[in-house]
Amino acid sequence: MAQTITNNPLVPGISSNIADIRTDYKMAMLDEDSTGSDPLFFFNTWFREAEKAQITEVNAMTLATVDARAIPHARIVLLKGLDDHGFVFFTNYDSAKGHNIGSNPHAALVFFWKELERQVRIEGLIAKVSPEESDAYFKSRPEGSRLGAWASPQSQAIPNREILDTNYTHYKEQFAHTDIPRPHYWGGYRVIPQQIEFWQGRSSRMHDRILFTKNVTGSWDKSRLAP
Ligand SMILES: Cc1cc2nc3c(=O)[nH]c(=O)nc-3n(C[C@H](O)[C@H](O)[C@H](O)COP(=O)(O)O)c2cc1C
Repeated sequence: MAQTITNNPLVPGISSNIADIRTDYKMAMLDEDSTGSDPLFFFNTWFREAEKAQITEVNAMTLATVDARAIPHARIVLLKGLDDHGFVFFTNYDSAKGHNIGSNPHAALVFFWKELERQVRIEGLIAKVSPEESDAYFKSRPEGSRLGAWASPQSQAIPNREILDTNYTHYKEQFAHTDIPRPHYWGGYRVIPQQIEFWQGRSSRMHDRILFTKNVTGSWDKSRLAP
C-alpha cells in the first residue's frame, strides 16, 4: 500500500507539513521589452535592485559542475566580479569543483533572490581568470581568508578539525613578516554565459521567464519560456 507522507512530521515533536509550504508570487512582472538586448547589462540592473532591497549574501550563487563520470555537483560560491565576459568567483583549483571543471568546462549558476521573487539561471563555459586577476583579488582579501586558503586542502578528507587550526597557525607564523602570497592552487574562474534566463514569480504559478541565448554571430536572441 502506498505510504502517505504528508502530515508526517519529519522530526517527532516538530510539526511540519512540507507539502503545504507555498508562496503565491505577486510582487512584479517581467516583459520582453524591459530586459533590453544585453542580458549582462540586465543582470546588473537586477543585481543593483537586489542590493537596494538589502538582500543578505546577494552575491551568493549556486554553481553546478559536472565530473568526469557526467555526475553533476552543486554548491554555493560568491560572485566576486562581473564584466562583459562573464561571472567571476574564486576558489581552490584543487577542490572537487576544480577537478570537475578540469574534466568538463561547462557550468551553470543560479541566483535566487527570494525577497524580489526572482531567479536568474546562467549556463556556459568556464575558464580560469588570469593570474593577475587572481593576485589582485587575493590581495584584497582579509588576512584570515588569505591564511585560510593556505590552511585548507579544500574538498579533501581530513582526520579532524585540529589539523585545520594547526595549519592555520603554521602559516600565520610562516608569513608573519612577509606578504601572504597567493597559493598556486587558488584563484578565479569566469563563467562565460551561453544563455541567461530571468525568472520573475507571478501569481498562480504563471511566472515570467525571459531567456537570452547567444547566437553564432555573438549577439543575443531572446525568447519567452512557459513557466
Ligand atoms: C554562502 C556561501 C558562500 C561560499 N562561497 C564560496 C566561495 O566563494 N568559494 C569557495 O570555494 N567556496 C565557497 N563556499 C563553500 C562551497 O559551498 C563549498 O563547500 C566548497 O567550495 C567546496 O566545494 P567542492 O568540494 O564542491 O569543490 C561558500 C559556501 C556558502 C554557504
